[in-house]
Amino acid sequence: MIYPIVKFGDPVLEREAANVTEFDTPELHKLIEDMFESMYAAKGVGLAAPQIGIGKKISVIDVSNGQKPEDKLVLINPTILRVEGKQVGEEGCLSIPGFREQVRRGNRVTIRAQDAKGEFYEKTGEDLLARAFQHETEHLDGRLYILHISALKRDLMKRKIKKMQRAGDWG
Ligand code: NI
Repeated sequence: MIYPIVKFGDPVLEREAANVTEFDTPELHKLIEDMFESMYAAKGVGLAAPQIGIGKKISVIDVSNGQKPEDKLVLINPTILRVEGKQVGEEGCLSIPGFREQVRRGNRVTIRAQDAKGEFYEKTGEDLLARAFQHETEHLDGRLYILHISALKRDLMKRKIKKMQRAGDWG
């Protein structure tokens, strides 16, 4: 099932999500499957559960856009263990469509998370995967990438979004 993506302005995006405590249930497996399906449909490389209106600490990532099955990652209750190096590059978010900004991130990031069965794992990613680890983990804490841009750019973006909301072009 493809969920519609929740857009900036919905409070679910700026609230800390709840920890997942039950694993390996049919509901959890179905939700994860639906999250991948919704992410591919929206042409994203990462999706957090709050972006489909579900306040749980679950994110999915696939930096290969569905090309490599081994790149499909499920991050449940993730934490960032290590951030090394720096990268600066364009970043966007499915919940803030039409906007992209330069964001400074770590270039090599190690996370600790649980999988759908509740098993803990650690994984290190570089470049785009490192960026996705940070972006998607922050989503689950109610933090959006626009917190990493200047207040001036953020206010300009919010004004443009308000205008679109008033015109009924935001949803
Ligand atoms: Ni996002």
